[in-house]
Amino acid sequence: MNKKKLVVTTALITLLSSFAYAAQEMAAPKTYPKGEIGKIVKLGEDIVNNTDTHPLTKDFVGNKLQCKSCHLKGADGKVGTGKGISSWIGTAATFPAWSKREKTVQTLQDRSNNCFMRSMNGKRPIIDTEASIAIAAYITWLSEGSKIKMNAKGPWSEHNTKLYPKAVKHFKKIQKNATHENYLAGKEIYKNQCASCHGVNGEGLATFPPLWGKDANGNWLSYNTGAGMSKLDKAAAWVKSNMPLGQGNSMSDQDVADVVLYMNAQERDSFDLKKRLLPKEEMGYYNSKVFEEKHTVESNFKALGLDLNKIKNGK
Ligand code: HEC
Ligand code: HEC
Repeated sequence: MNKKKLVVTTALITLLSSFAYAAQEMAAPKTYPKGEIGKIVKLGEDIVNNTDTHPLTKDFVGNKLQCKSCHLKGADGKVGTGKGISSWIGTAATFPAWSKREKTVQTLQDRSNNCFMRSMNGKRPIIDTEASIAIAAYITWLSEGSKIKMNAKGPWSEHNTKLYPKAVKHFKKIQKNATHENYLAGKEIYKNQCASCHGVNGEGLATFPPLWGKDANGNWLSYNTGAGMSKLDKAAAWVKSNMPLGQGNSMSDQDVADVVLYMNAQERDSFDLKKRLLPKEEMGYYNSKVFEEKHTVESNFKALGLDLNKIKNGK
C-alpha cells in the first residue's frame, strides 16, 4: 500500500470505528444482568423513572420531577440514554472523580445523591441505602462496555465533558450582556416554543414536567436555585442540546440564551445547603469539604453580573 492510500484507509477506519462507538454509546445494554444484581438494576431504573412517587425516594424529593426529566430517554426508551448533554452512558466509568463544588473526590453515589437536594429540591439520601445503591447500579449498567477513564476536569462522563464545559463557557459570554429586551424576547420564545408542553406559567402539563413556580397548595414544582439547571449558562448548554423535546440543537444560541434568561428569572425554591442535609446523627458520611452554600434566583443572576430586577422589569 502506498503512503497516501494508507493515510486514507486509516482515516476511514478511524471514522467508521468512531461511528460504531457513537451508535453503541447511546443505548443501554440489550439484557439485564442475571440474579440479584439484575433485580437491583431494575429497582434503580424504576426509581429514576418515578423518583417523586417511589416509596424509597419520595421523602427525599421536594418537587414534581423525576431523574428522567433531565436525563432523557434515548431511542431505546431507557432513562439516561439520550444523545444530548446529561446522558448517563459511560458515566460510571468516570468515577471516582474530582468535584470543584464539594472540593473532594466524589463517588457515583455521592454525585447522584447530590442531585436530590438540588435538581429534585429535596434532601440528600444516605450513602449505601437501598435506593442509593440501586441508582448507582442502574447507571453502572448503562456503562457496561465503556472504558474506565478518570476525569480531572469534573464529575462528568467523557461524553458530557466533550459537550458540556465548552457550551457553558460559550453561553456565559452571551448571557453577560443580557438586557430587559432579551428577557422580553425570551418570554415570546417561551410562549411559541415551550409553553405547549411546559404550560404558560411553567407549571407543566400532563407528563410534561414543570419548569418553575408552585402548585395550588403552595408546594414548589421544579428544581431549586442550587441546581445546575438554575445557573443561566449551564441551563443554556442543556436546553440547546435537548429542547424542544426531540429537536435538540435546532435553536439559535441567542434564542436559547434569551429563553433561559426568562425561565430562570421566575420563582423557584432557594438553596441553603445546611437545610438540605439530614440531621448529623442520620445523614451518614457527607463527602464534602464545603458546608456553607446558599443561592437565590437573584444571586444566580448576580453570578453573571446581572441585576434580576433590571432584567425583569427594565428598571
Ligand atoms: C433539573 C434537571 C435534573 C434532574 C431532575 C436531575 N439531574 Fe442529574 N444532572 C443534571 C445536569 C444539568 C447535570 C450536569 C451538570 C452539572 O454537573 O452541573 C447532571 C449530572 C448528573 C450526573 C453526572 C452525569 C455525567 O456523566 O455527567 C449524575 C450521576 C446525575 N446527574 C444523577 C442524577 C440523579 C440520580 C437524578 C435523580 C435523583 C438526577 N440526576 C436528576 C440535571 C438534572
Ligand atoms: C414537545 C414537548 C416539549 C417542548 C416543546 C419543550 N419541552 Fe422541555 N421537556 C419536555 C419533556 C417531555 C421533558 C422531560 C423528559 C421526560 O420526562 O422524559 C422536558 C424537560 C425540560 C427541562 C428539564 C426538566 C424540568 O422540568 O425542569 C427543561 C429545563 C426544559 N424541558 C425546558 C424547555 C424549554 C426552554 C423549551 C422551549 C425552548 C422546551 N423545554 C420545550 C417536553 C418539551
